[in-house]
Amino acid sequence: MDSSSRDFKDFLNLDEFEASAKSVLSPMAYAYFSGGACDQFTLRENVSSWNNIKLWPRVLRGVSNPDLSTSIFGQSFHLPFYPAPVAMLKLAHPEGELAVRRAMNRLHLPYFASTMATTSLEDIAGESTTPSYFQLYCFKDHGLTKSLIQRAEQSGFKGLVITVDAQMLGKREADIRHRFHLPSPLKLENLDHKSNLELHASEGSGAERISAHFDASLNWKSLEAILGQTKLPWAIKGVLHPEDGVIAADMGAKAIFISNHGGRQLDCVPTAIDVLPLFAKALAGRVGIFVDGGIRRGTDIVKAILLGADGVLIGKPMVWALACGGAEGVIRMMNILEEEFRLALCLLGCSSLKNLRMEHKF
Ligand code: FNR
Ligand code: LAC
Repeated sequence: MDSSSRDFKDFLNLDEFEASAKSVLSPMAYAYFSGGACDQFTLRENVSSWNNIKLWPRVLRGVSNPDLSTSIFGQSFHLPFYPAPVAMLKLAHPEGELAVRRAMNRLHLPYFASTMATTSLEDIAGESTTPSYFQLYCFKDHGLTKSLIQRAEQSGFKGLVITVDAQMLGKREADIRHRFHLPSPLKLENLDHKSNLELHASEGSGAERISAHFDASLNWKSLEAILGQTKLPWAIKGVLHPEDGVIAADMGAKAIFISNHGGRQLDCVPTAIDVLPLFAKALAGRVGIFVDGGIRRGTDIVKAILLGADGVLIGKPMVWALACGGAEGVIRMMNILEEEFRLALCLLGCSSLKNLRMEHKF
């Protein structure tokens, strides 16, 4: 471990992890994890858009120990923010997905496993002492999609999160320039040998080639057929239009993840915070509403919840924390966010998440 990866215990905010991670990751890995699509307008706006909202404190409410709990898939957790499903975590740290999974065990929080993980879903399930949810990409090879669902079910995953905004990968110029590929011996452990060979080839962007296997013809009807194969509760991730949220809710989704995929897919789209009020209006009380993109402070989480979210996901900061210090790094990052979030609720005079709604928005 060099000095930059030892220092994370002194970090005071999430941004400090990124600078340190950049110094330990290869330029190709940093480009993959940090990059966005095209001009990266949405990537930047994801972070800055949270600044457009102001909080409105009430005084003399005597709040010193707010209730920070929320629920997802009918399961209650003591905090409303969790690491997002992110691909290829062994590119960030040798223990990859298992380090994050173990960190969530220790924090008593759930884990979202990506289809594109460098650890098999069975190994992740075997390490789980809190619920694991499987993020599913649907493949052209319907047999592969079906077998992923069956494997998730059989190994004990508690829900599916179906990502629908990446049927083709966004135009990520940094990945093309760095000829993104997965260095051997790393593998996409959930996928077959052939897909892995494509990811190892070093021309162009390997990530783009692998996404060529995703089912770009997926539609609501074919999704319904896929869901007919499982009894697991499911959520949909990568939705930005409230009417799509309503269709998913009508089809039986338990939660909607409002997301622009961290600015990595279509550039120049709304941020989660832009559209969250519309979803809250259309869907409040019917399904869980989660958002992600650019959340870097406890106050960002407060803002998401006061506009109607039940919780949020944290993508890139989790990767940086993992790169800096494995499971310990991720725990430190989550602890910083928890302290900021708790302090914000106390200073707002707000005793629980449900009391946040609207009263505290300026
Ligand atoms: C992602 N994301 C993602 N989402 C998903 O459903 N499956 C996946 O495999 C991945 N892979 C992935 C890789 C990398 C490197 C990043 C940065 C993101 C999207 C992720 O779940 C989440 O939506 C965003 O990361 C949230 O934005 P922030 O927190 O990174 O700003
Ligand atoms: C990504 C995919 C794999 O954003 O979700 O890189």
